[in-house]
Amino acid sequence: MTKKILVLDEGTTSTRAMLFAQDGKALGSAQQELTQHYPAPGRVEHDATEIWHRTLACAREMVEAAGGAERIACIGITNQRETVVAWDKNSGEPLAKALVWQDRRTADFCEELKEAGHEAQVQKQTGLLLDPYFSGTKMRWLVRNKPAVAAAAKAGTLALGTIESWLVYKLTGGARISDASNASRTLLLPLGSAQFDDDLCELFEVPKAALGEVTDNAGNFGVTLPELFGAPIPITGLVGDQQSATIGQGCLSPGETKATYGTGAFILANKGHDIPTSDNRLLGTVLYQENGKRTYALEGSVFVAGSLVQWLRDSLGLLGTASETETLARSIDDSGGVVIVPAMSGLGAPHWQPEARGVIAGLSFATGRAQIARAALEAMAHQTYDLAKAFAADGAEWTSLKIDGGMSANDWMAQDIANLLDLPVERPDFVETTALGAAMLAAKGAGLVASLDEASSTMRGAIGNFTPSMESGVRQARVAAWQKALAAA
Ligand code: G3P
Repeated sequence: MTKKILVLDEGTTSTRAMLFAQDGKALGSAQQELTQHYPAPGRVEHDATEIWHRTLACAREMVEAAGGAERIACIGITNQRETVVAWDKNSGEPLAKALVWQDRRTADFCEELKEAGHEAQVQKQTGLLLDPYFSGTKMRWLVRNKPAVAAAAKAGTLALGTIESWLVYKLTGGARISDASNASRTLLLPLGSAQFDDDLCELFEVPKAALGEVTDNAGNFGVTLPELFGAPIPITGLVGDQQSATIGQGCLSPGETKATYGTGAFILANKGHDIPTSDNRLLGTVLYQENGKRTYALEGSVFVAGSLVQWLRDSLGLLGTASETETLARSIDDSGGVVIVPAMSGLGAPHWQPEARGVIAGLSFATGRAQIARAALEAMAHQTYDLAKAFAADGAEWTSLKIDGGMSANDWMAQDIANLLDLPVERPDFVETTALGAAMLAAKGAGLVASLDEASSTMRGAIGNFTPSMESGVRQARVAAWQKALAAA
């Protein structure tokens, strides 16, 4: 029996372990929710110890399902990006709660840096903008505001890293690395430099010694401690979740574009080996690095997608299940004038307004659950539409869009995106492309395949299509109503 590939998929709301066969077939998964801590408006935290324990529990379940650690060829890790963990290198214990990518507490500092004229240079070097989304200002906040973090920095025992960095440290018992795709989200890595940059670390007041070494996305990153799974397992793939989905969708040639609808919605277009630039507030990012050579992507990051439906279900109690939105949306002809701008965590690309907040416009006494649910799904197409315009203005017009992520299983939403964008939309039958991308990289790193192209042709499955069918008048009215509501956010 050929050995399996184990993927640890660290999302924002849950941690999962998935087992893959070498032909890309999903064999099983274990999942646990993560506690979301909201200590104040705009603040979002995770408990890094909980992430570690729940990851380990899910991984052990899958190792057992595979028949033991000897039956696993390799591990691939893919993760929510930008979220920062501070821990002590000696004790291996977190020194504070992790600051999640959605956390906006460093908006003032970002504004200060902008006013001091730093944004153009930072964007040129890192491909990113001065927004609290990215890791650098979160690291600074931890050092300045958490005495235990400051003390560790002074003592030289501080480790700062994104989630893959934290998990590799725990799984191997001490390796200190960060893969290039995750590192490119920190504001500390110039897109053209191999390692974190002294001047950027100084600007963001991040102690460089606390950061790990920047690595490729596929290779030998260490083996798991034998006591964790009964025998050591090599870790051979590491990648940020959105880059992973891009690979899992087979977007390996310049111009190919995917949109993942998870907690947020993230659209990445492969830009090849040239460092991407944007005049329309999109991001340049590392898609992956192989033998030190980088492939880049242009990215549009939308902060709220599935989390809007989750909020309607869990906080407002308007839905029993997320999938109910599809039946509700189909039960009416239109949203009755209701438009939702889901700016609960500010607005990301292409607007970048950290202080913006959500809006539900057009309420009347005729508004019910169905109108709200439909408006929530329509917001996904509206946000994607804004990005389509920004990509086109940057010379990266889409000719089709490959969608994935948990929310993309909603057929009504997939069709609405095709309709509003007037573009063919492709969706793989297996929508868990984030985990698949990490499996492909891990397979490459372990030498199970010779290249990502080979992994793409052997491990990816069937694709479904959605063809646009909306009258242009309806489209124009939808876009106009969206733009009006957006102005109020
Ligand atoms: O940049 C944040 C992103 O990586 C989060 O992904 O899958 O939790 O929406 P997800």
